[in-house]
Amino acid sequence: MADFRAVAQLNEFTSDEDVLVVNYGRFSVLLYKIDGEFFAMEDRCSHADVLLSDGEIDFSMCRIQCHKHGAMFDLKNGQALTPPAVVGVKMFAVKVTDQTITIAPK
Ligand code: FES
Repeated sequence: MADFRAVAQLNEFTSDEDVLVVNYGRFSVLLYKIDGEFFAMEDRCSHADVLLSDGEIDFSMCRIQCHKHGAMFDLKNGQALTPPAVVGVKMFAVKVTDQTITIAPK
């Protein structure tokens, strides 16, 4: 059974393009909303050990770009979209119960 853990409260999101950096055990995780649905992605590029939160998010294109070498990843499924990354980024399942946002590894 998935180990969902509370990482944030709904009221921490004040606009549609807010991105929170939360922790799940040893993982740093990006938490954000697309069209009202929450997504959680590990805050680490699959190409090298750098933070994706230092990169650029483009919600209109549903992608995040790593600042180091420019690889892009799909914000909904973590898939690598452009080189030099060839492996996707780990995603977490998200549940909202009352006002609390919980995540668990997929
Ligand atoms: S470290 Fe992210 S693309 Fe190279």
